[in-house]
This record gives sequence, C-alpha cells and structure tokens, in this order.
Amino acid sequence: MNDVDPASAVRLWHESTPGAVVLDGFHALKHALRFGADVRLALTSDKESVLALAAELADDLTGTLRRSVVEVPADALRQLVPKVHPTRVMALAVRRGRADNLAELAAAPRRSPVVVLDNPRNLGNVGAVVRLAAGFGATGVVTTGDLDPWHPNAVRAGAGLHFATAVEPLALDAFPPGPLYALDPEGDDIRSVTVPDDALLAFGSERHGLSPELRERADALLALPMRPQVSSYNLATSVAMTLFHWGGPN
Ligand SMILES: C[S@@+](CC[C@H](N)C(=O)[O-])C[C@H]1O[C@@H](n2cnc3c(N)ncnc32)[C@H](O)[C@@H]1O
Repeated sequence: MNDVDPASAVRLWHESTPGAVVLDGFHALKHALRFGADVRLALTSDKESVLALAAELADDLTGTLRRSVVEVPADALRQLVPKVHPTRVMALAVRRGRADNLAELAAAPRRSPVVVLDNPRNLGNVGAVVRLAAGFGATGVVTTGDLDPWHPNAVRAGAGLHFATAVEPLALDAFPPGPLYALDPEGDDIRSVTVPDDALLAFGSERHGLSPELRERADALLALPMRPQVSSYNLATSVAMTLFHWGGPN
C-alpha cells in the first residue's frame, strides 16, 4: 500500500476500481492483509476507530494500518460505495492471479481437499463457502457455470478470505486430479467413508442439485445424514459438514 493524500486517494480509488476487488470493512481488510493480498488502497473516514479495532482484534496489523490507511471526509467515502461499512473502512486489492490459483490447485501431493461448487447461483453462499474453505485450510474453491466467484457480493460474504485459498472458475475437463466425491442426499452415508486429503468435494446448485455431467464424473456419491421428509440442507451448510467430516486443519 502506498501512502497517499486524501484528494489523490479518491481519484486513485476511481482509477483503480476496474479489475480490483473491493474489501468492504475492517474484517475483510484484516483477512486480506494476513493472507498476502496486494492491497493498493485503504480508505477510512475515521482512522482512530480503525486503529482502535486493530488494537483490539488485529495487533499484528496495527503498524501496517497506521502507515497505510488514508483518512478521507465521510462524504467522500459515501460517494465511492453504495453503502459504507459500519467499520467505515474499505480497500482495493488486486484479484489473485488465475495462474497462481491453478498452480496451487494442481500442486501434488495435495494435503487438503478442493471444494467444487457445481453452477452455484447464490453469491452469498459462494462467499460463505470460501470462508469455510479458508477456515478449514482447504486447497481451494472451484466453481463451474457462469457465476464469477470473485463477484463483489461473493467477496463481501467471504470476509476477505478469497486470498486465503485458491478461488477459481474452472470447466469440468480442467479439474485438478484427485478422487471426486459428489454430495447428494441419495448417496451413501458419508459416515462410512474416510475422505482423503486429495479429494475433490463437489456440491450441486441451490435449485437443481448436481448436474448430470458432474454426477457422471463422480467416483462416489455421498449423503449427509438427514431426517426423512427433509429434502436437503443449504449449500454452504453442506460444505461445512463435509469439511468437518474430512477433519480440518491439523
Ligand atoms: C440446496 S441443495 C440442492 C437441492 C436441490 N433441490 C436438489 O435437488 O438436490 C445444494 C447441494 O447441497 C448438497 N446437499 C444438501 N443436502 C445434502 C445431503 N443431505 N446430503 C448430501 N448433500 C447434500 C448437495 O450437493 C446439493 O446439491
């Protein structure tokens, strides 16, 4: 991050927005910095509060934030985003490169699963899954279909953790290697299976479930325990239970 004066900061924000990722709020900025994001600009209308939050929640970043966060008038901040986050801080970071993500996804041996979201429709779910994958130390989150997992609403729901795991849209024929376990209420009980570290764990879309193509490719269909008459769990909840069953970070 460069040190810039308030007037240039607002101009820089406009110039940098195309192609950049907006980090909305203190937690998103904190996570992005911790996981090595290239943060180009961070603005606030209340630097004292930002530093107080840092002292309370992110002592490791106090120095960086003191040096880099630029204070601008509240009016200026309101003009830059539709809704200013309650922590009154926002930042712009460079999207993680596709080449880096693909290298991470393909690295062998893989020590943690890749989560596959098959044509997800809800950006909040995508962000929640990225957050889960980051927390569990999963290698990455791959999506099929037309939705960009780096969409601003997904990044917002991911709390800045898109920088902590490899998040990339990918066609089915470009998936990294590894046994493909597809989660489906009609599958075999997941409790009878040990999920290996190099697994691909695939989840269907919110409305239609797994696509026929993914179902066809799967090495096994696994079900999460569920009471009769309940049709399915929420997508992000299903990912949480499956990663928990895998075992999580050591
Ligand atoms: C909201 S559900 C999809 C519901 C969809 N109407 C269907 O027909 O499958 C989204 C995804 O979560 C996973 N899922 C939900 N409940 C599950 C369960 N009990 N067992 C395994 N996977 C489940 C599946 O991957 C599913 O495709």
